[in-house]
Amino acid sequence: MYHIPVMPLEVSHYLINNPNGLYIDCTFGDGGHTLYLLNNFKNIKIVAFDWDEDVSKRLFKKENLNNRVIFIRENFKNIKRSLLKININKVDGILADLGVSTKQLSNLERGFSFNSSVLDMRMDNRNKLTAKEIVNSYSPEDLADIFYTYGEEYKSRQIAKAIVLRRKTMIINTAIELQKIIYSVKRTRSKKNPATKVFQALRIFINNELKNLETLLFDSHKLLNTGGRIAIISFHSLEDRIVKKNFKHNSDSKIYKIITKKIITPSKIEIKNNCKSRSAKMRVAEKIDV
Ligand SMILES: C[S@@+](CC[C@H](N)C(=O)[O-])C[C@H]1O[C@@H](n2cnc3c(N)ncnc32)[C@H](O)[C@@H]1O
Repeated sequence: MYHIPVMPLEVSHYLINNPNGLYIDCTFGDGGHTLYLLNNFKNIKIVAFDWDEDVSKRLFKKENLNNRVIFIRENFKNIKRSLLKININKVDGILADLGVSTKQLSNLERGFSFNSSVLDMRMDNRNKLTAKEIVNSYSPEDLADIFYTYGEEYKSRQIAKAIVLRRKTMIINTAIELQKIIYSVKRTRSKKNPATKVFQALRIFINNELKNLETLLFDSHKLLNTGGRIAIISFHSLEDRIVKKNFKHNSDSKIYKIITKKIITPSKIEIKNNCKSRSAKMRVAEKIDV
């Protein structure tokens, strides 16, 4: 199962300001956006980042695209340093489509989904910290803090207590077991799985997602040519808040012009065809001449 790129038309429209330019896809994933952009703008080139060992390489098999895309397995927070290593110090656009890909979510051995047979949640398996270690060793206070800070989970303390009680008798080994513990504390009538917020919180914490985004945003304006654009697609309010704050700060400092005064969201038709796109929000800014 491959990832359907979110808002491909909108991304093309807002990101591509130079049809002969060099662009960065910070979150290659299944290559959906990279492929779409390369196919629709025949003279652009893309440097794609992803830190997951298991990203789809199908794109590289397409011979005619090979000389137009470079792939770097690296955390996008190191974008500046990584590009310098290949002698790139300016680009025409930067795209980040945050979060996990469909492939990551649907692989039950990665631990991102509720039915996983493991408790892992690392996007980059070179990192050490897993969900299993956190759930089985962190203090109840630290667990509650993570659930509240990164998941805005209002039952964070009760869930943390239940986890600590359960692990006195057994090691919590799988996402399925963790989900059951959360169910024992939290029942909702809504369609949303009651474990959603805790799973989101663990994933964000383990992968240091908010800090990575902040570092990427901090460095991006230094990499953009005048007229170059940055487009960030986020899926929850914590990320969106960081993007909004960075764009506002750079706009006040006369570094960026904010292009999307009104946030861009998927059309009704897109949401109908790809329900995973429903919470996507895109903000775009343009580097201006200082
Ligand atoms: C939502 S998917 C991107 C999907 C892609 N746009 C597509 O259309 O196929 C997000 C991807 O970003 C990667 N990712 C998340 N944070 C990252 C980081 N800090 N550095 C590098 N890659 C990251 C994940 O491993 C995942 O593959």
